[in-house]
Amino acid sequence: MASTTFHKRAITAGIAALVLGLSACAGGDGDSTGDSTGDSGGGGGDLISVGFAQVGAESGWRTANTTSIKDALTQENGFDLKFSDAQQKQENQIQAIRSYIAQGVDYIAFSPVVESGWDAVLEEAKTANIPVILTDRAVDTEDESLYVTFIGSDFVEEGRRIGAYVSETLGTEPIKVVELQGTTGSAPAIDRKTGFEDATKDNPNVEIIASQTGNFTRAEGKTVMEGFLQAYPDIDVVYAHNDDMGLGAIEAIEAAGKVPGQDIKVVTIDGVKDGMQALADGKITYIVECNPLLGPDLADIIKTLDEGGTVEKRIVTKDEEFDQEAAIAALPDRQY
Ligand code: AHR
Repeated sequence: MASTTFHKRAITAGIAALVLGLSACAGGDGDSTGDSTGDSGGGGGDLISVGFAQVGAESGWRTANTTSIKDALTQENGFDLKFSDAQQKQENQIQAIRSYIAQGVDYIAFSPVVESGWDAVLEEAKTANIPVILTDRAVDTEDESLYVTFIGSDFVEEGRRIGAYVSETLGTEPIKVVELQGTTGSAPAIDRKTGFEDATKDNPNVEIIASQTGNFTRAEGKTVMEGFLQAYPDIDVVYAHNDDMGLGAIEAIEAAGKVPGQDIKVVTIDGVKDGMQALADGKITYIVECNPLLGPDLADIIKTLDEGGTVEKRIVTKDEEFDQEAAIAALPDRQY
């Protein structure tokens, strides 16, 4: 389904081009990463001003995602990027979005910390005629007109793919699985749990004995795994919703005198360099990728909208999957 294309900047730019007989061009220099005061200020000028409200810096994936966005939305490329880090708190993200609305930016993009609770602030953006683009994570809303498009991975499918691997490859005999969930209430935590359960539900050999959030961080993944190891002496598999929590779990497994990859298998989602290295080293057994390099596509979407074009309402990015051999082959060229 194609999205609507109305946007105040496209109209303003069109009028300006008619009056001046000029087409818009990028210009100016300065910091593209935050509190920028480029030519457009908030809404006019040559550069397209974009307020990006990031989740935080909780994982290697997030760091790669932030770098990709900052590298793509540069002044040289025609953007005035205002970037904020919400430190994994929804209230910080809402505050950042309100500040972008007050500044009158041309576009707002964000990756929602959690799924629910966005309608009010998105209504404010809509009233201000500022198009909103969701990157990476979805919002739970009944009013799809509150955002223009959502670009990112299919998290349910990621969970399903890792669940299929566990069921078909490890679940040929009875196995006890512990799950390290992502941030409670976030789209990837909800969807990856759903996908995994869906893929393993018909295999009676696969038993999920415990499931707890590790908030997508290495430190919390380690702490939760320490608790699991004390409570359950017979864990066979750790399913971590991201590489970082899986890497934290590996530290806990090793500290408990067990061998990750042999005594306890670890399967994860993301495919960042540290995770891929652990897979190559045999400490992680399988990874389903989640591609963080959304910056170039985000830049393209904004430029398309800015020129009055349309984009799909849902853009799904492509993810691969890796075993040890594939990780060894991919590592030398891995960008993140
Ligand atoms: O939303 C994507 C998830 O968020 C990544 O899998 C995880 O590493 C990040 O923190």
